[in-house]
Amino acid sequence: MKVTVSRKAHFNAAHRLYRQDWSFEENNTVFGKCNNPHFHGHNYELIVSVTGDIDEKTGYVVDMKVLKDIIKAEVEEAFDHKNLNLQVPEFKTLNPTAENIAVVIYNKMKPKLDSNLALEITLYETPRNFVTYSGN
Ligand code: NI
Repeated sequence: MKVTVSRKAHFNAAHRLYRQDWSFEENNTVFGKCNNPHFHGHNYELIVSVTGDIDEKTGYVVDMKVLKDIIKAEVEEAFDHKNLNLQVPEFKTLNPTAENIAVVIYNKMKPKLDSNLALEITLYETPRNFVTYSGN
């Protein structure tokens, strides 16, 4: 019997989408306003879902306090009020699209959880645009 538990989190961050090996015009064609050289911000909303068996002793899939602390350390303290391109090492050469941010969050969090637990990351870049990654 597998049960999924989820926790929501939030961070504000700035980014710019571009490739250094493309001209400004090529970047504008592909990334539009997100290629603004002065960066721009998003209010990112995160849903972290963990799926696993209910522990017989505790009745938990995962202790929410533990999950909260992992999100705080790996996501909020790493990304909140940061310029993702300039201040977060993972994006030094990786375009900080919602897709790539979700993969980076997954890769940071997965090793912190019991290996029997499945992880799914849903990241909203805007209220209407969101991406999901679960390690496949
Ligand atoms: Ni953007």
